[in-house]
Amino acid sequence: AAAQADGHPHHHTVTVAHRGASGYAPENTLAAVDAADDLGIDWVENDVQRTKDGELIVMHDTTLSRTTNVEEVFPDRAPWNISDFTLDEIEKLDAGSWFGADFQGETVPTLEEYMDRVSDNHQKLLLELKSPELYPGIERQTLRELRREGWLDHRHKRRLIVQSFNAEAMRTVHRLRPDVKTGFLGTPAVADLPEYAEFSDQINPSYKTIDADYVAAVRAVDGAHGKPLEVYTWTVNDGPSAVSVAGMGVNGIITNKPDVVRDALDDA
Ligand code: G3P
Ligand code: CA
Repeated sequence: AAAQADGHPHHHTVTVAHRGASGYAPENTLAAVDAADDLGIDWVENDVQRTKDGELIVMHDTTLSRTTNVEEVFPDRAPWNISDFTLDEIEKLDAGSWFGADFQGETVPTLEEYMDRVSDNHQKLLLELKSPELYPGIERQTLRELRREGWLDHRHKRRLIVQSFNAEAMRTVHRLRPDVKTGFLGTPAVADLPEYAEFSDQINPSYKTIDADYVAAVRAVDGAHGKPLEVYTWTVNDGPSAVSVAGMGVNGIITNKPDVVRDALDDA
C-alpha cells in the first residue's frame, strides 16, 4: 500500500490472531480468543469442523490428538478423528494442558460458544472451514448457525469473513449467501485469479509464497463484491517478516503473536 496521508505506511494493515492469540494460549480455545482481546486485537481466526453427532466445533487438526488429552481418556479409539467422537465425548477432553499447566481444564469450544465469546469481546471473526470435504453440507450448516446467532444481520456482517483452502466449499458459501465476505486460502496462479474472484473477496496465501508483484496482481482484480481482491497472509510471527509483507501491500497479517506484528508495524 502507498504511504497514508499521515505518513504511516502500514496504518490499515489488519492484524488477525491466528487460532486466537495462539502464541500465548492454547489454539482455538476461548482462552486464545481472550488472549487476543487482552492484547487489544479485534480480529481472530479459527477452524471449524464437525463431530460424529453433527455439532460444529472449533479445532485445527482433523484428529483430536495433538491439542487434547484424548489418547489418555479414550485409549482404544485410534486414530482419534474428530468425526468419530460425539460432542459429549469431546467436551470431556482437556484442550489446555498440552500448552501449559495454567490452561488445564480449557475445553474444545463449540462454534456457538466460540462466536458468543467473540461477540462478548466485541471482536471479529475470520472463520475457516477446515477440510470441508470431510463434512458434507458443512457450508450450509455453518451459515445457518451464523444466521441464528445474528452474525449475518446487516449491521454485523462486517465482522465476519469465511475462508477455506477448498475452492468448491467457498463457491458454495458464496452461492448460498452472496452477501457474506469470503476468502480463498492459497496462492492461485495470476492467470486463474478472475475465476477465484467470482466467489472470493480475498486471496489468502502463505507469506512464504508471495512477493510485491503477486500482491499487486491480486489487488488488480476485482473480487466478488466489485472491490479489489484483498490479501491476508499467514502465518507471520516475527517483526521483520511483518514489516516485509506489509511493504508488499498486503491488507492483513494472520499471526500467532499479534502484539509482535502490531508493534513491528507501529515502529516501521
Ligand atoms: O488463516 C490462515 C491459516 O490458518 C491457514 O493455515 O493450517 O493454520 O489453518 P492453517
Ligand atoms: Ca486456519
